[in-house]
Amino acid sequence: MSTWDLSRTKQHVLLCNGSSCMRKGAEEVTQRIRAELTERNLDDVIHTSRTRCNGRCKDACVVVVYPQGAWYKDMEQADVKQFVDCLVENEVYTDMLTHQYNGEHFVAEPSAVKGTLKAEVAAKVSKLGMERNHA
Ligand code: FES
Repeated sequence: MSTWDLSRTKQHVLLCNGSSCMRKGAEEVTQRIRAELTERNLDDVIHTSRTRCNGRCKDACVVVVYPQGAWYKDMEQADVKQFVDCLVENEVYTDMLTHQYNGEHFVAEPSAVKGTLKAEVAAKVSKLGMERNHA
C-alpha cells in the first residue's frame, strides 16, 4: 500500500492493464514508462497508475494522460522515450494520439476507431427487454 505526496505532481498517466491491453504488451509498456520516469528523476512530477479496462480495447495498449486529457493507442516500448519527452515538454505525443479533451468533450483524431455510443447499446438492451416482456 502506498500514499504518495502529490503536491509536486503535474501529470497523471493512466496505464491500462486490462486484459486486452495486457495481451498487447501493457506490462512491458508499464514497466518501461515507470523506469524511464525514474531514470529521469520524474517520479514526483509525473504520477502513474495501473488501471483496468479503459473501454477502448481496439486501441490496446491504451495510455491516458491528465490534465491534458490525451488518449493514446497502440503504445509499445519503442514509444516510451518519445512519449516521456512529450510529457516533460507538456506536449501531446501526436504519433499515437486518438482523442484529446477540448474543454467540453473529447475530440477523436481522424484515424481513431469510432467505437460504439453507450446510448446505442442501452437502447438495444432496452428494446430487447421490451420484446421479451411482450413475448
Ligand atoms: S483492456 Fe485496455 S482499453 Fe480495454
